[in-house]
Amino acid sequence: MIRYSILVFGILATFLIAMFGLTILPKIFIDEGVTEPVYFTPFEVTEGHRVFVREGCIYCHSKQVRPEGFGADFERGWGRASVATDYRNLLPHNLGTMRTGPDLANIGARQPGEDWHYLNLYQPRAINEESIMPPFPWLFEEVGEDARPAHEGLNLPDEYRVPGRKILPDDEARYLVAYLLSLDQQITGVD
Ligand code: HEC
Repeated sequence: MIRYSILVFGILATFLIAMFGLTILPKIFIDEGVTEPVYFTPFEVTEGHRVFVREGCIYCHSKQVRPEGFGADFERGWGRASVATDYRNLLPHNLGTMRTGPDLANIGARQPGEDWHYLNLYQPRAINEESIMPPFPWLFEEVGEDARPAHEGLNLPDEYRVPGRKILPDDEARYLVAYLLSLDQQITGVD
């Protein structure tokens, strides 16, 4: 009889310890970073997130910064440690696990230039000659040089220019860049 009660006690204790460690403890830590939610996400940002998911950016870029002291994220200048509210608006949350390229959790603050992002998406090697990031030219359109100047066209180095044509971001590229610029930790969570 005594043996049975030890067994039952053991099962209960294992269950309670696991519950404490896996649900209660993380909740206590996560709550530290919760601020007032932002209820409104602009249309461009929601659509840009959709393009980000579709194009598979997450296979090379994580969106989660480790706390100072865990790895070199802080030293790399990727921003403060991520908190729960950074992910409150858009689904899927897309934290990512691969880091073939830099983490993008705070890219909107680190790289705020809209034209820089267009150039990097159209042809990463126009920025860094040895880039291994794939180009995404299908997010852009090629028009005649005299076409209506909705945008003056990408400022490409000579080797990537198409003679007599200019390259304009299409709607999806604009949405994607709006989304990238919204990845700014000052907007998404606590400072
Ligand atoms: C095959 C891997 C790969 C994929 C897929 C990829 N990237 Fe990259 N990306 C990189 C690498 C590597 C870099 C680092 C610079 C370089 O070598 O180009 C980078 C750099 C960047 C940067 C600049 C980061 C910084 O800190 O300056 C941005 C922004 C970016 N990528 C956005 C995107 C977006 C948006 C997509 C999807 C449309 C995407 N990337 C898809 C590999 C990738």
